[in-house]
Amino acid sequence: MLGAFVNGGMPFSGKARGSFFLFSLFFVSSSLFWCSRAANSISQGQFVGKDETLISSSGNFELGFFSPQNSSRRYVGIWYRKMSVNTVVWVANRDSPVSDESGVLTVSGDGNLVVLDGNNRTVWSSGINSSSVPTSSTAVLMDTGNLVLLASADAGSASAYGNGGNSYWQSFEHPTDTYLPGMRVRVNPVAGENRAFRSWKSLDDPSSGDFFMGIDPQLPPQIVIWGQSGREWRSGHWNGVIFTGVQNMTGNFQYGFKLSDIDADGNMYFTYTSSNSSNHLMFRILWNGKEEQLGWDETSNEWTVLQEQPAKECDLYNKCGNFAICNEMDSPKCSCMEGFSPKSPDQWNRGNWSAGCARKTQLQCRDNSSISVGDGSRMDGFLKLDGVKLPDFADSISSSSAEECEAKCLENCTCDAYAFAIGIECLLWSEDLIDVQLFDEGGLTLQIRLDNSELGTKSKISNLFIIITVLVGAFVLGVAVWLLRRFKDNLKGFSFFHRKNKELPLSHDFVENGELSAELSRPNGLARDDKPVGGADIPVFNFSTIEAATNFFSEENKLGLGGFGPVYKGKLFGGQEIAVKRLSRKSSQGLVEFKNEVMLIAKLQHRNLVGFLGFCVQGEDKMLVYEYMPNKSLDCFIFDSVMRAQLDWKKRFEIIEGIARGLLYLHRDSRLRIIHRDLKVSNILLDKEMNPKISDFGMARIFGTNENEASTNRVVGTYGYMSPEYAMEGLFSVKSDVYSFGILLLEIIIGKKNLGFHTPEHSNLISHAWHRWNEGKGIELIDPCIRDSCSTDEVLRCIQIGLLCVQDSTVDRPAMPSVVLLLGSETVDLPIPKLPMSISITGSMGTYSLFESQEIESSNGITVSSVDGR
Ligand SMILES: *[C@@H]1O[C@H](CO)[C@@H](O)[C@H](O)[C@H]1NC(C)=O
Ligand SMILES: *[C@@H]1O[C@H](CO)[C@@H](O)[C@H](O)[C@H]1NC(C)=O
Ligand SMILES: *[C@@H]1O[C@H](CO)[C@@H](O)[C@H](O)[C@H]1NC(C)=O
Ligand SMILES: *[C@@H]1O[C@H](CO)[C@@H](O)[C@H](O)[C@H]1NC(C)=O
Repeated sequence: MLGAFVNGGMPFSGKARGSFFLFSLFFVSSSLFWCSRAANSISQGQFVGKDETLISSSGNFELGFFSPQNSSRRYVGIWYRKMSVNTVVWVANRDSPVSDESGVLTVSGDGNLVVLDGNNRTVWSSGINSSSVPTSSTAVLMDTGNLVLLASADAGSASAYGNGGNSYWQSFEHPTDTYLPGMRVRVNPVAGENRAFRSWKSLDDPSSGDFFMGIDPQLPPQIVIWGQSGREWRSGHWNGVIFTGVQNMTGNFQYGFKLSDIDADGNMYFTYTSSNSSNHLMFRILWNGKEEQLGWDETSNEWTVLQEQPAKECDLYNKCGNFAICNEMDSPKCSCMEGFSPKSPDQWNRGNWSAGCARKTQLQCRDNSSISVGDGSRMDGFLKLDGVKLPDFADSISSSSAEECEAKCLENCTCDAYAFAIGIECLLWSEDLIDVQLFDEGGLTLQIRLDNSELGTKSKISNLFIIITVLVGAFVLGVAVWLLRRFKDNLKGFSFFHRKNKELPLSHDFVENGELSAELSRPNGLARDDKPVGGADIPVFNFSTIEAATNFFSEENKLGLGGFGPVYKGKLFGGQEIAVKRLSRKSSQGLVEFKNEVMLIAKLQHRNLVGFLGFCVQGEDKMLVYEYMPNKSLDCFIFDSVMRAQLDWKKRFEIIEGIARGLLYLHRDSRLRIIHRDLKVSNILLDKEMNPKISDFGMARIFGTNENEASTNRVVGTYGYMSPEYAMEGLFSVKSDVYSFGILLLEIIIGKKNLGFHTPEHSNLISHAWHRWNEGKGIELIDPCIRDSCSTDEVLRCIQIGLLCVQDSTVDRPAMPSVVLLLGSETVDLPIPKLPMSISITGSMGTYSLFESQEIESSNGITVSSVDGR
């Protein structure tokens, strides 16, 4: 059997556009008719000639001869088959077209794939040394668009299972201009630049063009576009999740790029996986030097450009010259870095930026004229430049901290700048700072080394700034003191009082002592139910009451140290036990705002949130008063070798459900839509009946959530629970809480901490859990204490829900309403969780794990925060 699917010359007739419907009809009928003859492979003695094509098994791709528009030259290519707009993704004989209609593609006697012209001359060959080719070989067009050549014996399984593993040649390793999902691009620092993709010559000429796209493997790697005169664009360094120099590549963390581990030959590979395999996607380098990512739009039946690079003027490689900064928002767009001036001012002022900038003052150690030994006043310092695409050509150094990185830069006179960031560790620049762009959001921080005298001019400006700040601060303080006075005058020695009119700002009219005793005598302070208590009155505690209750904040009464300050146990006069959280003073929030926040948060009442009893303000001190939880926090049980036995599976499941409901309430049902930001086992408290209560909710609000505040305040998270998009980019959403919830759930079932978990194969709990679960050995994960008391199906289902919550893409993670639903139902089908890839990020220095250090503080870049209440 010849095995070629005869198809009436469909592709590349240009007319095909718009006749998709007819085409589909034709396809359906012809495939029924030709069913037995449609083929996806050829072997020796078989040919693909004029009007014959191979079609991959599920019909995604087609291979055959085509002619570009306005051309009689014939090329062997692979194209997307189902699209009405033809899209060639690979060309075999791009530089040696066949001129007449008699050419064929076949497998030659020596086992190579060849294109023959009408005179039986080989115009193109897969070019494998015949000594390493099996005598009988077959070429198979896979459903991924990959054409693989393998021993005929392997061909059946390859096409059946989509597995080209045994191939000795594949088109994915010899791409033309298109990068398809599933292709691997080699990254090897020793082998150098990998210019894997080369553009067409022009829109309708597939021969080798002027532009290349590929990888600069200098770690951390970058994607680069090369033109005739060198680099035209680069993506910025790979940080394990995103390319840091692509401005809009932030946030939802679903790009699907992955860098593999180093293999025995020193190679790593970039792969791209579409988040939804039924979406058709491709990247390609166009004949005009632009890279574009295309996605097939099913509804409009056309390719849409998802992104294009270089997108803006500042994306053009080193647009402003060395030591200059390109800012799309500025006019002119180019400026010298601080401490630098144009190298050739005339040209610069004329808008010719090519010469770039040079230091105004030479670094001391490079200044041969004045060797000033021990002149401490002229030490070099660093100027911080936030939100930039880091310069090209960095040396990557392993370093554990920004301080260490800075020291390494200072000790080597050739060092011009350094940068330290998660996922890329420490970068040093010893040559000119090239291709720096300032972003309006995102970007990394560059520390530029300058002579102290240059930093001095800067500090004159900042002195002025400080003076203004101090004056403004003094004024604000004065107002605050005045407010406090009024507030105190109103207290008149009562322990408890509350506001009557909840709409008024808190600064006046507090005292309504008539209700004082009523407040005290309520059984548990406040009612709690699934519904928030409408218009609850918020008690304000007198400082002396708190002092008395906590025995003057004595050490014995200290329950622990939370993320936002110490917590004390106390006993009120009436006997009620309370927990007092004394907030650290990091919050710069004003008194009025603080109180307003507390008033709002106090109205969040739910049986799975810790009951909020009131607050207290004394001078700078701010305190929150909660109901006391006799059983402390969940970590005292599940991570304790003795206590863990007290929580059987039934109880643990109730705890999981309770936490989920509490979180759902915060996310959806409460008026405020609170994002917790620091959900972890130690923030889950247990009441007498071991009901779980989420604590520390609303802290993000109290500690300020807008960006200006975030640069002065510090929002604390805990590494083992941090979603990758928060750890890497400081981005936070309800889905980050879902991630933390997933970790928490897995920890409760497995009885081990995510942080610090190691096995020989896996450096963290999620990866371990995913693999065990995937191998069908989920049962081995279950904490031995509960294995006997549990229903295996129920636990496995929970593990699967946990794994769904810790997926990399925020889009893939279920939201809390779905989580609650899934937990409550035994019949709803669960999706298959994807392997989280971020858990072991291969950084510049081998394996870099996100979860190695304990608590980190992120002081900037918190761009998404709790949604404002209505
Ligand atoms: C093919 O491989 C053999 C054995 O590995 C080698 O001796 C020969 O030189 C190779 N031929 C070419 C053209 O590379
Ligand atoms: C994947 O894409 C297809 C078509 O666009 C859509 O019907 C399907 O729901 C998507 N699947 C997921 C899991 O998003
Ligand atoms: C820009 O300036 C450089 C030197 O700084 C010069 O060689 C080049 O000719 C100038 N280009 C134009 C277009 O003036
Ligand atoms: C200083 O840095 C340069 C460039 O990175 C390097 O070649 C040189 O060895 C370094 N010198 C010292 C003393 O570390």
